[in-house]
Amino acid sequence: MHDTSDSLLDGTPYATYVYSYPHKTAYRTLDPAPSLRALWAKERLDALFLYLHVPFCEMRCGFCNLFTTVHPGQDIVEDYLGALERQAVQVRGALGDEARFAQLAVGGGTPTYLDPGQLQRLFAIIKGTMGAATAHIPVSVETSPQTATADRLAVLQEHGVDRVSIGVQSFLDDEVNAINRRQQVREVEAALGRIRAARISTLNLDLMYGLPGQSAQSWQRSLEIAMGWDAEEIYLYPLYVRPLTRMGVSDAQWDDERLALYRQGRDVLLEAGYRQVSMRMFQKPGGGQEASALYRCQEDGMVGLGCGARSYTRQVHYSSAYAVGPKHVKGIIRSFIAQSDEDFARAQYGVMLDREDQLRRYTILSLLSEQGLNRAHYTERFGTDPLADLPRLAHLQERGLATLDGQVLSLTAKGMERSDAIGPWLFSTRVQALMEAYDAQ
Ligand SMILES: C[S@@+](CC[C@H](N)C(=O)[O-])C[C@H]1O[C@@H](n2cnc3c(N)ncnc32)[C@H](O)[C@@H]1O
Ligand code: SF4
Repeated sequence: MHDTSDSLLDGTPYATYVYSYPHKTAYRTLDPAPSLRALWAKERLDALFLYLHVPFCEMRCGFCNLFTTVHPGQDIVEDYLGALERQAVQVRGALGDEARFAQLAVGGGTPTYLDPGQLQRLFAIIKGTMGAATAHIPVSVETSPQTATADRLAVLQEHGVDRVSIGVQSFLDDEVNAINRRQQVREVEAALGRIRAARISTLNLDLMYGLPGQSAQSWQRSLEIAMGWDAEEIYLYPLYVRPLTRMGVSDAQWDDERLALYRQGRDVLLEAGYRQVSMRMFQKPGGGQEASALYRCQEDGMVGLGCGARSYTRQVHYSSAYAVGPKHVKGIIRSFIAQSDEDFARAQYGVMLDREDQLRRYTILSLLSEQGLNRAHYTERFGTDPLADLPRLAHLQERGLATLDGQVLSLTAKGMERSDAIGPWLFSTRVQALMEAYDAQ
């Protein structure tokens, strides 16, 4: 599946969405499980990213493979918050007094599945137990049209949330219904109105392309409505899970359709003055959540709380023990709730990053964003030159997928649209083998 040769560059542009490296299917049980205190002892702790995962939704969308469960009972939600509190106490203790959070994100699932009282409890964990100063750092929360209610948004506003990200997918009812998402445009419009009324400074809208029945005209309509809301950020996601109704379409045809819609979306947003930050992310100049002045995603640590949330130190990426697939999610959440304080104080499941994977991670995350790979910064960090460490980077230039401008290697437009092929093409043999062994299970 994960070819190491250049054929990956010539194949589908939609191989794997790489939002982190190594991929979670490279994680295994860590035996012995290291203590969090030992893992974090050698890390820089002054600019950490805090992530909380809320694995609950009010609907299960046909295309979604995120770690979430639909309509859990209220007892599970309350118990989950209780477990989060216990985990937070252990994690904060392991990090020590020096630790400072420079950025916060609450994702899911749908965090606003929690009611206002439960959201207050969540912020008590974030601020009280973890000590994150939410009023002074960038804070982002994911929401959905039905759960973005005025009373919940008021809680977010009260705690200094400055970015709300909402899944829309399409502004045409037929298109969302064809991918089994129970949603109506009028609900979406009402939710967007409530988010604007709550005066949260950055609104992000998720749109998807490659949907059954979607045409250049209908895609244009969704893009225009999104821009009509003056969204500070818009994410354009290629649909990854093929709906049943698309089974007759060949792989090549589906790729061509998605690529054409991607280019249309990119051009429309660029013409409207948006900046392309990555293959999926577009930001309005002057709008968009201020990225933390301190946190650099390639370099700084991530502290994850909740079932399935990942944490990154330089040498170890880990999460609580969990399976990746959507099956058995409720059982996995129950096991998370049942964990002891001692369990929470250790990294139970994860992957070690040797030097090669550390430098590949740095390279992939830099290259797939607009900032590109700065050779001098890389050398400062690793003591070597990236083009010598990863000679295949030269292939990107030869193929017109990247250019070297002074110190910075950055993707061309042709490279950017192939981000989901270039990312996996840069995986190490070791990580590919781990991923393949996982997939074969
Ligand atoms: C956590 S959800 C957003 C918040 C909320 N749960 C909602 O759906 O409104 C993350 C986003 O990932 C995207 N996504 C999820 N699964 C996808 C898939 N299989 N292919 C493409 N995009 C996907 C969707 O655009 C979705 O809005
Ligand atoms: S797309 Fe959002 S609402 Fe739908 S199942 Fe996934 S996380 Fe839940």
